[in-house]
Amino acid sequence: MTAAVQQSSVRRADAQGPRFAHPAEAEFAAFLDFYRIAWEYEPRSFPLRWQDGRIVEQFTPDFYLPEQDLYVELTTMKQSLVTRKHRKVRRLRELYPHVNIVLLYRKDYHEILARFGYGSVDITSLRPDQIERVLLSPAEIQRRVAELGQQISTDYAGESLVLVGVLKGITFFLADLARAITRPLAIDYLQLSRDLREGVAIRKDLDLDIRGKHVLLVEDIVNTGLTLDFIMRVLREREPASLKVCALLDKAERRLVPVPVKYVGFIIPNEFVVGYGLDYRELYRNLPFICVLKREVYEASGNGHLIGETGQEAAAEAAEPSLVATRVEVGSG
Ligand code: IMP
Repeated sequence: MTAAVQQSSVRRADAQGPRFAHPAEAEFAAFLDFYRIAWEYEPRSFPLRWQDGRIVEQFTPDFYLPEQDLYVELTTMKQSLVTRKHRKVRRLRELYPHVNIVLLYRKDYHEILARFGYGSVDITSLRPDQIERVLLSPAEIQRRVAELGQQISTDYAGESLVLVGVLKGITFFLADLARAITRPLAIDYLQLSRDLREGVAIRKDLDLDIRGKHVLLVEDIVNTGLTLDFIMRVLREREPASLKVCALLDKAERRLVPVPVKYVGFIIPNEFVVGYGLDYRELYRNLPFICVLKREVYEASGNGHLIGETGQEAAAEAAEPSLVATRVEVGSG
């Protein structure tokens, strides 16, 4: 089943959300929502003391983060409260040693992101205020990649296959997907170049002979389908036993050429996205999540770019069907 990105299980601190006891909790919930970290509000109370068989003291941590199996208790800087909470947390840890809990100050919010797989934010030039929105969290990506791996392993039962990745955007997805597939497999790469006069060409060809092999072409994102259509035609001529496609992201509404994509990670809206291998002028590939950048990131000239071309062009080509339709455009990945 294809997971449309909108069908996330991430809780939202909006209309249907819980009534928070404190504004700091609403703020923390909004922070978690922004980074698409799933949460539950006060889902469980832990008895801490009993008298005559009755519970006389219990502790209800503010949040539970199921993806991290972590309870979070928010705290202010007020010393009297901190001391009381520390005591309760200590007691909880003694009584329930398998329960993970942290006491969190507001200043620590961003620090815990590293624990949740968001570490690379700190090592790129991308600030949180340059992110329009996080589309897919590391946990969501990893969960879906594992599902795809399982499905592919089942479908190719008794067979071996060749995974063909299109450089460079495929780097991380292919590495994770390959490890989630439990069939014998070989990995090979293609890289394309595009020239306005000569059109699309293969810059780096496969090393392997795929004749008679089961080939799974792995793409980061399918947009118009022009790139995929070109590659499929080239590979089919080499007479593989079968040729199927697995794409992490599908901007289905942008399709100009019908291409058969057998395995789709997420159907996403028509927005320019970066992260988890996808770049904007060679940057942001190492973000462990996938996000939409704010317009000003494209519009700011000389914003740490590594390759030529205006930024707006690169983003517009991917997001604007009319531009692609009038030119021979194929992503170089
Ligand atoms: P298509 O030929 O229009 O299907 O475009 C596919 C190629 O365009 C991908 O392999 C990417 O290299 C690039 N691309 C399309 N959309 C995006 C995006 O949102 N972010 C980054 N690259 C993209």
